[in-house]
Amino acid sequence: MLSQKTIDIVKSTAPVLEVKGTEITSVFYKNMFSAHPELLNIFNHVNQKKGRQQTALANTVYAAAQNIDKLEALLPTVKQIAHKHRSLGIKPEHYPIVGEHLLGAIKEVLGDAATDEIIEAWADAYGVIAGVFIDVEEQMYVEAEQKEAGFRDFKPFVVAKKVKESDVITSFYLKPQDGGEVPNFNPGQYISVRVTIPGQKNTHIRQYSLSSAYNEEYFRISVKKEAEFDPNGIVSTFLHDEVEEGSAIEVSAPAGDFYLNEENTEGKVALISGGVGITPMMSMLETIAAATPKRPAAFIHASKNEGVQAFRSDIDDIMDGLENGSACYILEKPENVSSCHFSGYVTKEILSTYVDSDTECYVCGPAPFMKAVIMTLKEIGLPEDKINFEFFGPAMDLSSV
Ligand code: HEM
Repeated sequence: MLSQKTIDIVKSTAPVLEVKGTEITSVFYKNMFSAHPELLNIFNHVNQKKGRQQTALANTVYAAAQNIDKLEALLPTVKQIAHKHRSLGIKPEHYPIVGEHLLGAIKEVLGDAATDEIIEAWADAYGVIAGVFIDVEEQMYVEAEQKEAGFRDFKPFVVAKKVKESDVITSFYLKPQDGGEVPNFNPGQYISVRVTIPGQKNTHIRQYSLSSAYNEEYFRISVKKEAEFDPNGIVSTFLHDEVEEGSAIEVSAPAGDFYLNEENTEGKVALISGGVGITPMMSMLETIAAATPKRPAAFIHASKNEGVQAFRSDIDDIMDGLENGSACYILEKPENVSSCHFSGYVTKEILSTYVDSDTECYVCGPAPFMKAVIMTLKEIGLPEDKINFEFFGPAMDLSSV
């Protein structure tokens, strides 16, 4: 339990952190990586370079400080981050390392303004916040083990099949190397893939949504190859160009809180995606087709042109088996306008053809697409609890939606 005095100090100094938050976390990362270079095997170096993770951590610490006496208000955010942490293999022993370097950075940036009393108060507060994360993460492991839906850390998998889905997206079918069964997952969840790239000092971890319904034999991920000159593309380029059938890669258990509500077996559902955001939607669509084929389901997908559009014939086949299914393909710049239902961007007119205020919507794609779709769904009259979304990258970027 934190004393009232500690709570008062933390709350009154939190606004300073808000102003200096990014500066503090930048110093924190620099110092932490120099003392613990092994952590570079866990963190996404691109997020680091672009400052994305800095902002995410700064925002969360600030939000936690504002709510230090009612941390339960932050639980949904903590759970979402905990899913990511669990997928990355973050362990309880990592938290004191982060704490030590975060406090050190606060001291370094604030200088004399950071009195011993303030630092002690923040050390106590960090201990409480870290304790919440550690507990939530442990609870997730235990729940997953009870449901036989997971394993700890990473396990070796083998690429059983590699299938080109479009000019830019390739699927990888991953089977456990030990010949065991794949753990269960919810349609929409992701796994982390850890690879060692020749010539690179550290391992790289990336999250990819599972792109097929659950089956006990394999996980399927469908990876978009990013531009080679984009540092973000280092892992996807490696997977596309170097990883072949028979190659081994490490995988962590499915995680994530963006998934199809399978309890709703009859209500209308719309799966709305842009670009490679189609991947979790494929898992959801296949699950609907297998478990609730009578459910009214719309699959709305926007992509640039025919060449980069993935899974088209799979979706058409699935739609043939649904009693009440409809697919809508939107191409920004079609080579042939008759190959899509609409050309250009997703609009209110298009969405309102498929969606009304009763429809459960799932949205995934790049940030500008997501912002436009979520705003439009709200205009159509959808309540927030009917709009489920996942954005690729630190979730905080969507806070302005
Ligand atoms: C991701 C907060 C502790 C490693 C994140 C994100 C947030 C966050 C907000 C972004 C989630 C997203 O992608 O939506 C925190 C807070 C912590 C904490 C408040 C302490 C209370 C740790 C620890 C480690 C760690 C102890 C391991 C040393 C990571 C990594 C990512 C991440 C590797 C993925 C992003 C990237 O690779 O750049 N964390 N975290 N975190 N966290 Fe933490």
